[in-house]
Amino acid sequence: MSTPLNSDPLQQATDWIRHRRTIKPADMDPSQQIDRALVNQLLENACWAPTHGMTEPWKFLVYSGNARQRLADSLQDLYTVTTPADSFRPDKFTKLGTQPLLAPVVIAICMARDITGKIAEIEEIEAVACAVQNLHLSASVAGLGGFWSTPPVLETEAANHALHLEANERCLGLFYLGWPKPDLTWPQSRRSPLESKVTWID
Ligand SMILES: Cc1cc2nc3c(=O)[nH]c(=O)nc-3n(C[C@H](O)[C@H](O)[C@H](O)COP(=O)(O)O)c2cc1C
Repeated sequence: MSTPLNSDPLQQATDWIRHRRTIKPADMDPSQQIDRALVNQLLENACWAPTHGMTEPWKFLVYSGNARQRLADSLQDLYTVTTPADSFRPDKFTKLGTQPLLAPVVIAICMARDITGKIAEIEEIEAVACAVQNLHLSASVAGLGGFWSTPPVLETEAANHALHLEANERCLGLFYLGWPKPDLTWPQSRRSPLESKVTWID
C-alpha cells in the first residue's frame, strides 16, 4: 500500500497524513503476521511524540498470538461485570470477544502518569494521543491498517485490574494493527473546510 509521492518534503508529509485511514479489524488479514521488529519500529516512532517535562507517559501492552484470545475473554468479562443487566447488549458482548482475533496485533494504549504529578493528567493523555498518531501514521506508511478503539469497558477500575495497571496508569483504548485484506479498497475520507475552524487574529 503506497501513495504517490511528490518530491517536495512538505507535500510528501501532506500526502502521508491524508493517506492515513482507520482500517477496522474486519478489513485486516488475521493470518498475515507482522514482524515483531516492525511493530517495535512503529512503537519507537510513537515514543518520539512530544512530551511535556520529558515524562514519556506512554505504555504499550502488545497482544499477539494466543494472548489475543485472553484479551478478548477479559473484555467480555469486563463487559459482563460492568454492565447493568437491563443495558446488556449481546451484540456488543460478541464484538468484544471476536474483534481482537481479527487483527494479528492488538496494542493496549496506556498512559502512565509521572508519580510526582508535575504534569497535569490531561497533558499526559494529550502526549499519548500524539504518540498514537505517530504510530498510526507510521503504520500507514508501512502499508498496515490501524484502528484506535475506545470501548467504555476500558475506563473502569476492573479494566485496570485486568490489564495489571498501576494506580497511576490508565488504558486509553486498543490499537488494532494488521495487513489489509488483499481485496480492500483503501478508504477515502473527508474533512470540513479549514475556514470553519480557523480564526486569524491580526
Ligand atoms: C481518541 C479516539 C478514539 C476513537 N475510538 C473509536 C471507537 O471506539 N470506535 C470507532 O469506530 N472509531 C474510533 N475512533 C476512530 C474514528 O472513528 C476515526 O478516526 C474517524 O472515523 C475518522 O476516520 P480516519 O481515522 O480514517 O480519518 C477513535 C479515534 C480517536 C482519535
